[in-house]
Amino acid sequence: MSKSAPPPGTGDITPQEAPVWNLLEESARRIYHLYGYGELRTPIFEYTEVFQRGLGDETEVVKKEMYTFEDRGGRSLTLRPEGTAGVMRSLAGTDAVNGMEHRVFYIGPMFRGERPSAGRRRQFHQIGVENVGRVAPELDAECISMLVHFLNDIGITGFTVKLNTRGVKADRPAAEAALREFFKPHLAEMCPDCQERFERNIWRILDCKQEKCRNVIAGAPNAADYFSDETKAYFKQVCSCLDAMGIEYEIDPELVRGLDYYVHTVFELTHPGLGGQSAIAGGGRYELTLPGINKPIEGVGYAAGMERLLMVRDSLGIVPPAPEPPKLFLASMGEKALAFNIGLTAKLRRAGIPVAVEVEAKSLKSQMRSADRLKAAYSVIVGDTELESGVAKLKRMADGNQEEIALTVEALAEALK
Ligand code: HAM
Repeated sequence: MSKSAPPPGTGDITPQEAPVWNLLEESARRIYHLYGYGELRTPIFEYTEVFQRGLGDETEVVKKEMYTFEDRGGRSLTLRPEGTAGVMRSLAGTDAVNGMEHRVFYIGPMFRGERPSAGRRRQFHQIGVENVGRVAPELDAECISMLVHFLNDIGITGFTVKLNTRGVKADRPAAEAALREFFKPHLAEMCPDCQERFERNIWRILDCKQEKCRNVIAGAPNAADYFSDETKAYFKQVCSCLDAMGIEYEIDPELVRGLDYYVHTVFELTHPGLGGQSAIAGGGRYELTLPGINKPIEGVGYAAGMERLLMVRDSLGIVPPAPEPPKLFLASMGEKALAFNIGLTAKLRRAGIPVAVEVEAKSLKSQMRSADRLKAAYSVIVGDTELESGVAKLKRMADGNQEEIALTVEALAEALK
């Protein structure tokens, strides 16, 4: 069976692979349109401070994974490691900062200097959405429902929606104090990374994958218990909306997500078909601060990794679409026929028929081999006799069935449509 997910190490998307990428993109455009989202295309690179301020200096992505370089003018630029910060930079000059709702989606390459493995690449592609400007639990739930709708549309089922709340900034000190009190006596048994996280960002301990740390984390208090009643009510409303929409989810108190801008709802979708890198998509509500803007921009959104979506489709046995073969192969016997066929090909293509023709004088056998290789649906052989009579045989390649056809654009276009 052909596979659609590219192997690690190659960055190319070949003409054979492109149709399945187009399928994902077309589905996203169609589904997101139903929810009132418009496409926003931001540049591949931004001033470095957009990501530093937007994602937070302490995030792994900013500290270890960004492709940052200086341009000729000495400005520091960075290849975008994710889409949210660039979208916010773009919307910062709009009424989104005054609470007006903006609904945008984006599709394109992102760059992170991570160690490549199956499902983890240095250049990868995301399909993401951002609902910016308004704060409402209903919008968080709608966002998750839109993601589920999109995944189902591209044939993906069997994923788990993991959900949690990160609280708002005012909720954090009480929760952090409880976590600190719990982890302190266990620090000696934990990995060096967690010992550092204890000092710098205690929340990140919760998503450590090391077994010895996992054993400790299993007994940790649920941070959400320390959040305000208002925050708890917000999260409850997100859950009620998801229930109303018939979306199944699991509340995972250890889900914190890697980027520092999240507040309230966070979510991640995992799939067993991915193995180690199990997140096909992730997102949540955020408050993002940008250089030159004194108040944070608020929104909710997510991004799905396209390579991972393709891996999951492969694991489910979904056959990727093949490139569309030509409808017609025109074979020529002799110079006059070749000249005629070249003209006919141009006219048929303008009439919307995909046509292949051999442009050099080659034997009929070799031309018919090309017709087979290209998987052309029909072929027509043109020689002196056909030129004289204006009539040829239209051969259906699948079964060899032949019918007479006038050698005109109109007749061929009619027969092939
Ligand atoms: P993220 O969790 O960092 O979130 O990335 C989202 C998805 O991108 C992941 O679930 C994964 O499928 C894919 N992905 C991330 N890194 C790689 C990689 N190195 N190779 C292949 N796939 C990868 C964000 O990027 C946030 N901006 C999402 C968001 C939007 N939150 C709010 N709005």
